Amino acid sequence: MNNINAIILAAGKGTRMNSTKPKVLQTLSDKTLLEHVLIQAQQLCSKVYVVYGFGGEQVQQTINDASINWVEQVEQLGTGHAVAQAMPQIDDDSISLILYGDVPLIEQSTLKKLIAHAQESGVALLSIILENPTGYGRILRKNDQIQAIIEQKDANNDQISISEVNTGIMAVNSGLLRTYLGALNTDNAQSEFYLTDIIAMAVKDGRTVASVIAENEFEVAGVNDKVQLAELERIFQKNQANQLMQQGLTLKDPTRFDCRGSLNFGQDCEIDVNVLIEGNVSLGNNTIIASNCIIKNAKIGNNVVIFPNSVIEDATIGEGASIGPFARIRPAANIGENAKIGNFVEVKKSTIGKGSKVSHLSYVGDTTMGEGVNIGAGVITCNYDGINKYQTIIEDGAFIGSDSQLIAPVKIGKNAVIGAGSTITKDAPDSQLSLSRAKQATLKNWKKPTKK
Ligand code: UD1
Ligand code: CA
Repeated sequence: MNNINAIILAAGKGTRMNSTKPKVLQTLSDKTLLEHVLIQAQQLCSKVYVVYGFGGEQVQQTINDASINWVEQVEQLGTGHAVAQAMPQIDDDSISLILYGDVPLIEQSTLKKLIAHAQESGVALLSIILENPTGYGRILRKNDQIQAIIEQKDANNDQISISEVNTGIMAVNSGLLRTYLGALNTDNAQSEFYLTDIIAMAVKDGRTVASVIAENEFEVAGVNDKVQLAELERIFQKNQANQLMQQGLTLKDPTRFDCRGSLNFGQDCEIDVNVLIEGNVSLGNNTIIASNCIIKNAKIGNNVVIFPNSVIEDATIGEGASIGPFARIRPAANIGENAKIGNFVEVKKSTIGKGSKVSHLSYVGDTTMGEGVNIGAGVITCNYDGINKYQTIIEDGAFIGSDSQLIAPVKIGKNAVIGAGSTITKDAPDSQLSLSRAKQATLKNWKKPTKK
């Protein structure tokens, strides 16, 4: 929207995190707390100001976004003082939306309502009704109209029992905000410049403070320690899982599913328990992911089955392929249509052709494999001499006997057969059996050693 400024307060140190990182750099899902807020702010606001204090350099480096206006609050003299630091850069004829770097799950729809109210009445406040309001500023109303906010530490017994509290989030006409902030004082229990005092000022000014009451506690929940961080992570994951299920994904147990990134999927996909999705993952139709899989940045086609305990990263899996159990598909692996990667198989930077099978206990790296290849148990592509990496080429229809080593660079021809237990150092021709084996011998005079 035009002429909306976000002012995000992020000067707090977050002592209770017991971390070397500033609080707003703790991560929830795949983003820092501050990034969650920034995403919302950037969608609604033409300019975004972040008020920083502790660890400002670290925050700016981590966020690394040139569109943000960074405002330093050298001393933390209160929320009113924090907002005031951004005001010199803000036009009177605009709305200032005040957000918090440690309140990550605020939603667009709520903020839109708040902004719309501020555009009408000048001042709009987001409150919430809490069963346990301890610690929060209480909302004082008269004839239903908001009169003031009284901080817990300044409240009398009657006021303490009020269950409607200040979330801290508000939208205010910037001209009014500037005037009211200029009139703040520190005559309160904490000797701070309270942002909350602007509410009583607006009322005294003859204004009606518009009220939006948040529906979800999680939207306005702040994060002060690792316990609260984990609680919000769970809520975030639950909300995300609900959305995915609404879109048609079957999750066997949404409480045992985590997505730290984005997941796209076709119809009739199923995900079993304890699956972790990271980065950008897409699934075609009818694809099944069994339990305990970790899948990161992968493009997975239709009718794929990923069996349990498989790890896939930066890879492409073609239609009808099957992976695992206990497979590791590493970066730049491209598994072809209807290919089979079985248990304890590792594939790295390799193309596996259509219908090829690597069923058991193999390492395939830096390899181009054609179609209809069969790789026996325990085959290793020896791609590394300790200094350089080399390519292996296995052409269509080749059969590699179990426990063979292919010493790269090497090429196995079309329909070639490699005898089990071979160490292949030279190219193997098409359609012929190649093998390298010492002759088997049985020693006639051999005796079992006796114990001395
Ligand atoms: C504030 C509100 C309270 C509300 C509560 C909601 C005031 C005076 N009180 O209280 O009514 O119920 O939030 O959580 O506003 N900050 C700065 N610079 C400062 C002071 C604070 O950036 O000088 C930031 C903090 O990092 C924090 C946020 O503002 O993210 C809130 O500050 P805090 O002191 O925790 O406010 P509360 O006492 O919780
Ligand atoms: Ca405080």
